[in-house]
Amino acid sequence: MNAGVADIPAAVRAGFFARVVAWQRAHGRHDLPWQGTRDPYRVWLSEIMLQQTQVRTVLGYYPRFLQRFPTVQALADASLDEVLALWSGLGYYSRARHLHVCARVVVTQHGGHFPTSAEALATLPGIGASTAAAIAAFCFGERRSILDGNVRRVLSRVLADAGDPARAAAQRGLWAAAQALVPPEATPDDMAAYTQGLMDLGATVCTRSRPQCEACPVAALCAGRASGDPTAWPRRAPRAARRTEAWCLPLYQRADGAWWLQRRPPRGIWAGLWAPPVLAAVEGLATWLRDHPGVEADWPAAFRHALTHRELRLQPVVCRLPGGPDSSTAPLAPGVERDQGAWCPPSDALALGLPAPVRVWLQNLASDSRTSSSR
Ligand code: ADE
Repeated sequence: MNAGVADIPAAVRAGFFARVVAWQRAHGRHDLPWQGTRDPYRVWLSEIMLQQTQVRTVLGYYPRFLQRFPTVQALADASLDEVLALWSGLGYYSRARHLHVCARVVVTQHGGHFPTSAEALATLPGIGASTAAAIAAFCFGERRSILDGNVRRVLSRVLADAGDPARAAAQRGLWAAAQALVPPEATPDDMAAYTQGLMDLGATVCTRSRPQCEACPVAALCAGRASGDPTAWPRRAPRAARRTEAWCLPLYQRADGAWWLQRRPPRGIWAGLWAPPVLAAVEGLATWLRDHPGVEADWPAAFRHALTHRELRLQPVVCRLPGGPDSSTAPLAPGVERDQGAWCPPSDALALGLPAPVRVWLQNLASDSRTSSSR
């Protein structure tokens, strides 16, 4: 049976919230750079960065991003390319594109001020129900529960919920249960501590494979723990295996060192980022290289790159063209879409929003060529 409000045991209803609040105040995290502020811009930015991304990783990006874009206005004024460049390596780039659109909507439609209710926040681009609840609870003390992946795990264990939280029906039940656990007398300070407490509990105690029940403030209320095996929750339907896709990435390089890069389509893998052309097969490129003996091709080892639902096998190919800036060879080469791309000197290219594995490859190429030219 899926969790529902009616199934919440009286002890959980009475004690869960207060225990989480007290535990957060005594044992939770208090010194993360996005804590200690009620500025919705800062909180929003941190919540978007923290979606699907570990705190440890975000710590390396958040201060840099804020330094460059200290206000929502500064972010709205920036170009998408600059935002993507600062996001490069965090992954899930649709977050960065939504972030940029959202900043513009806040500036143009809300006078530069974020709305103050979860309901209104959730109408903005890229802000889902849980993120909206987090911002509303942290900044405005709204009595709204969050329900991100970690909190789903905590609640499905505490309630021994039989639903698969990837399914909509189970999620609806968990949302209702999560909201029912917030008491009407909760103060704004309580809401901030509770929201952070749920996040801290999910990230540090009620972890996926090794929950530390002895350190958990709600262990006495937890049906999953009482069962003897809390890791049996959440119940999951079997997942489909990741599909592997082979991509060939020809990097056309002119004699003056410039690379041909083009913007990826707005949807799909690496959407909106800059990358060499992507070919689904190497045959067309091999034939083209045979027909163009002046092009010197270098085939470094292929490497793998895992995405959420797919594994990419990437085959880089450096194609050195004999011509300089007025060469007409590359615009006719396989995969080149003239109106989507540009010749970029390496230093300009590395300032663009590039997919992480492409960035590593191009950085290595740029430093190899610096080393060989200084020899
Ligand atoms: N994950 C999502 N939001 C978070 C926050 N505010 N602190 C730590 N981890 C989080």
